[in-house]
Amino acid sequence: MPEKNLLREPLRAFKPYVAGKPIEEVRRELGLTGRIAKLASNENPLGTSPKALVAMRKAIEEVSLYPDDNAFLFRKKLAARYGVDMENVFAAAGSVEVLELCAIAFLERGDNIVTSERTFAIYHLAALKAGADARFAPMIDGGYRYDLGAMAKLVDANTKIVFLANPTNPTGTWFTRDEFDAFMESIPRDVLVVYDSAYEEYTTVQDMPDPMVHLRTGRRLLYVRTMSKAFGLAGIRVGYAIGPKDILGGLMTCRIPFNASLVAQEGAMAALDDVEFVERSREFNRVEIQFLRDGLASLPVTVPPSQTNFLLIDTPKDASWLFLELQKKGVIVRPMGGYGMPNAIRVSPGLREDNERFLAGMRALLA
Ligand SMILES: Cc1ncc(COP(=O)(O)O)c(C=O)c1O
Repeated sequence: MPEKNLLREPLRAFKPYVAGKPIEEVRRELGLTGRIAKLASNENPLGTSPKALVAMRKAIEEVSLYPDDNAFLFRKKLAARYGVDMENVFAAAGSVEVLELCAIAFLERGDNIVTSERTFAIYHLAALKAGADARFAPMIDGGYRYDLGAMAKLVDANTKIVFLANPTNPTGTWFTRDEFDAFMESIPRDVLVVYDSAYEEYTTVQDMPDPMVHLRTGRRLLYVRTMSKAFGLAGIRVGYAIGPKDILGGLMTCRIPFNASLVAQEGAMAALDDVEFVERSREFNRVEIQFLRDGLASLPVTVPPSQTNFLLIDTPKDASWLFLELQKKGVIVRPMGGYGMPNAIRVSPGLREDNERFLAGMRALLA
């Protein structure tokens, strides 16, 4: 007799999230020595905020003690920054924790979430894990941009959460303040709108939405932020969310105690104060994104506009082939087959020499 399958039914056909390939894995598999450029996970090529590094080195001396489970100082700092009460701030082990907790806390079988096709995969995966359905609006403008109107139309009586990334990953596109304000008008007030603003520091356009405006009017909105990108803290896992007390209460019920580690809390607080590092990262990104865009201009590729630290590159070739061939040249990119774009890759700028190597590889492979 085969043993009973213990896995919950909604998880049986589940395919876990596929992360960007780590440098060491590529070294092992291909026997490569020398520098490898990882341009696959939208990380900060300038490294980590120096102020955060100092704070984290100090904190590491204290890790025999549990961290502050309330993340008091971190949340206090964020409350002051956003002009809200501490009870409106949730500290997390990366923003994906917040996204997962939304699903665990609020979704059950029969509920659905609404999001866009070709957006951050965790929204869908989190809903599936909770046994809920996911509804996807098709994208507009060449299949690269959210259609907020179509998303609003998918909301029904069983919709509990709408997940929005702005700018979105992996296409890099964005929606404007006017578009978002109109969207909020059209969404029932009991639906939770999750506004995931992971790439906010990299935006350069002036008319990005202000989610705080809607929070102040009492809307059920969760403003989700990561410290992984512009602050350079991806490896330590820290993020946060600003939202209504009842929604954060739901997240608190389901989180693991001590979710934000001591080193993460100290690093995040210092990084928030490191305005100079964020400014430098932002300017570096602006220049290198343009360098990549210019370098790609003569190639047969489509690159949608981006307000992030990455470019989506639609090519005439199979993306898994490109991914492997670029790896042999010491460059790791992200193939987009899993997002329904079998010919597209996503690339985040590295240092200039990495970006030059990537462009040389693309020229050789697409010639
Ligand atoms: C839109 C979006 N949200 C959230 C995340 C995850 O961030 P974190 O490292 O804080 O979990 C990413 C990471 O790539 C992302 O692209």
